[in-house]
Order: sequence, then C-alpha cells, then structure tokens
Amino acid sequence: MAETKVTPWEVSGKVDYDKLTKQFGTKIINDDLRRRLARLASEQNILLERGVYFSHRDLDLILADHESKKGFFLYTGRGPSGPMHIGHLLPMVFTKWLQDRFGVNLYVQITDDEKFLLNRERELADVDKIANDNILDIAALGFDPNKTFIFKDTQYMRNMYPIALRVARQINLSQVRATFGFESSTNVGMAFFPAIEIIPTMFEKKRCLIPAAIDQDPFWRLQRDIAEGLGFHKAAQIHGKFLPPLTGAEGKMSASQPETAIYLSDDPKTVRNKIMKYAFSGGQESIELHRKLGGNINVDVSYAWLRDFFEQDPKKLKKIGQDYTSGKMLTGELKGILVDKVNSFLEQHRANREKAKEHVDSFMHGGALAQRMWKTVHN
Ligand code: TYM
Repeated sequence: MAETKVTPWEVSGKVDYDKLTKQFGTKIINDDLRRRLARLASEQNILLERGVYFSHRDLDLILADHESKKGFFLYTGRGPSGPMHIGHLLPMVFTKWLQDRFGVNLYVQITDDEKFLLNRERELADVDKIANDNILDIAALGFDPNKTFIFKDTQYMRNMYPIALRVARQINLSQVRATFGFESSTNVGMAFFPAIEIIPTMFEKKRCLIPAAIDQDPFWRLQRDIAEGLGFHKAAQIHGKFLPPLTGAEGKMSASQPETAIYLSDDPKTVRNKIMKYAFSGGQESIELHRKLGGNINVDVSYAWLRDFFEQDPKKLKKIGQDYTSGKMLTGELKGILVDKVNSFLEQHRANREKAKEHVDSFMHGGALAQRMWKTVHN
C-alpha cells in the first residue's frame, strides 16, 4: 500500500484519521465537547454529529471564552488553484454555521500568492481571475457582511506586512523544512509563505478558531509555537475530514483528475454523468447477487457523500442505509438519490452566486470589518 501523506499541498494514500490525530497531536472531539458546542450554539450541526468535523485543538478554551463573554473570532481560507469543488465548500459551510450561531467576526484569506508561487505556469493575472471566481462562491454562502472580511493576500499585504515580519523572524528554515517537507529546491517565496498564512490568527487580540480540513494543520502547529511570544493567543482549530474522491481512490479530490470531484460549476448533466459513471459503488456485480447479498455502505462513495453532507435528514439516511445493505435498493437508485441532492444544492448555489455578484464588495476592502479590525490590532 502507498505511504500516506497529508500536507497542505498533497494528500495521498489511505487517510487514517485516528493515526493522523496522534501524529499531528490533535484531540478527537468527544461526545461531551460535541454536546457542549451544540448547547452553546442552540443547534446541532450534521457535520459535527456525523463526525466530519472530528478533531480539535483548544475548542474547549474557545467555548469558555464565549461563555465568559471574552469572545473569539473565526478564520479560514482558500488557495485559488482552480474552480472550487464541493469539498472546498464544506469548511466554508461549517464556518458560516459557526458565525451564525455565535455572531462572531470572520476573516477569509485568499492565498493568491501561495498559488502563484506553487505554479510556474501561471501569471498573477491568471491567479487573480480564479481568486475572483472563488470569492463569488464563498460570498454566495451569505456570511454576515458586517462581520466578514474576505481578502486577497496580494492586495492586503501592505497592511499585513508588519505582522508577517514579526512572525517570520521567529521561524527558521529547519522548522519549515521539518513541518512542511520543504527541500533545497523549494523557492524562497514558499519558505516565507507559512508566515503569511499565520498572520490572520493575529488579526484580533481574542482567541482565533480555524475551521478547515486537517491538511492545513501544519501551519497551526507552527503558529502555536510562536504566538504567545508575540503577545497573541495560540490559535484553536476544528478539523474536518476530506470529502472522499468520487472514484473511491485514495487521497483527496484532485484538480488534475476532474472525474474525482464535482465542481460548483458542473451543470446537472455533468453531475449525473460523473456520479453514474465514476462514483465508486459498494454494490454487487449483478442485480441477482445484489438482491441476495446487499451493498456495502462502508465503501460506497455515493452513500458516503449522502452521509457526510447531502442527506441531512437522519431518518432518510438510515432508511437508505438499510435498503442498500439489504439489497432492496440498487446502486443505480442510490446514485440517483445523490444526483438529485447534488443538483438541487448546486442550483441553489448558482442562484446565490448570481446574487452575490451585487454585494461581494461589501466583504472586501471597503467592508465594515476591514475598517474596524485594523484599529484593534494596532492600538
Ligand atoms: P485549499 O484551497 O486547498 O482548501 C480550501 C479549504 O478546503 C479544505 N479542503 C477540503 N475539505 C473537505 N474535503 C476535501 N476534499 C477538501 N480539500 C480541501 C481545506 O482544508 C481548506 O480548509 N492554503 C489554503 C488557504 C488558506 C486557509 C487558511 C485554509 C489560507 N488560510 C485558513 C484554511 C484555513 C489552501 O490552499 O486551501
């Protein structure tokens, strides 16, 4: 079996999440913490209930800061490498829920610098186009315009540079090499980049909570080593699992293999074709055998996507699981359910994205939060 690798830039091999939490030194979200979060949020969230958001650091301290009215803020981001797929949207959807339930500020970093440094084929103008397109997908989720600031690194860097310098002076080459696996051929821009992804954790003097999939964790390990020395809090995290590639392949969805992912821009026909043709099935080879032996929901990717996100109703999910396992439901029917769910989600998303075109500016530089925050950091 191929070796498992999880870094911010590469996920390969079979991801064993228990092992990863041990390796990264994070904690599993136990039932008590999950219940406490739901109680304070006055609502359950299926990404938490179903274990998609499964690991954390200092989430208990975030909740304590909320209870004591000290408050906290949220930070997440996106690296504009191409069109966004459904996996990229999950942390944003979860972040939106946290903002709604706790009424807190949110910073969304668009790392156009990172994606330029990583891809020699692209000019800054190409990355900028992708970034603007991604920002519309993010704005479409309807974050609170008064409490949300979405920014591109290349545009906002002038304001961030003083913190970046303070952060960068604390990190040496052997640390970034050990944390990210950089080699002597890595360009110096990437060697500096970790400082840049760390900056937004220091946008406020409150504790910062970062919802993201677990691949981003190496940045936060570094942040936690240096934050207190600079007068800021160690950043807290809530880590998500990856939405599995449609094909059932190992690793995560890959932009270079479009059949592994559903993009937010995929039209209904493309969605149907991809799921019908590529979604890895836990069904049997023939209908007779399937009726007799039933399907395997532990390996079926359509079922996994329904469980992780698309079938929010626990009763319906249970019935689908039972019918598929008993052989009453065939693979084609299961896939059909997923096709309908994905298409209605995307239809709504497309409509929200159109509307977002009118108000996207309120999240960017002229945004209310952009103006308020800078005073907080530099007082
Ligand atoms: P990026 O653009 O690679 O990923 C954006 C967000 O999506 C998560 N993610 C996934 N979640 C579920 N299933 C998947 N298959 C999947 N693939 C990716 C990522 O963990 C991330 O949360 N350098 C970052 C941008 C960034 C950032 C941040 C991300 C800057 N600051 C703070 C999170 C938090 C990047 O390139 O992410």
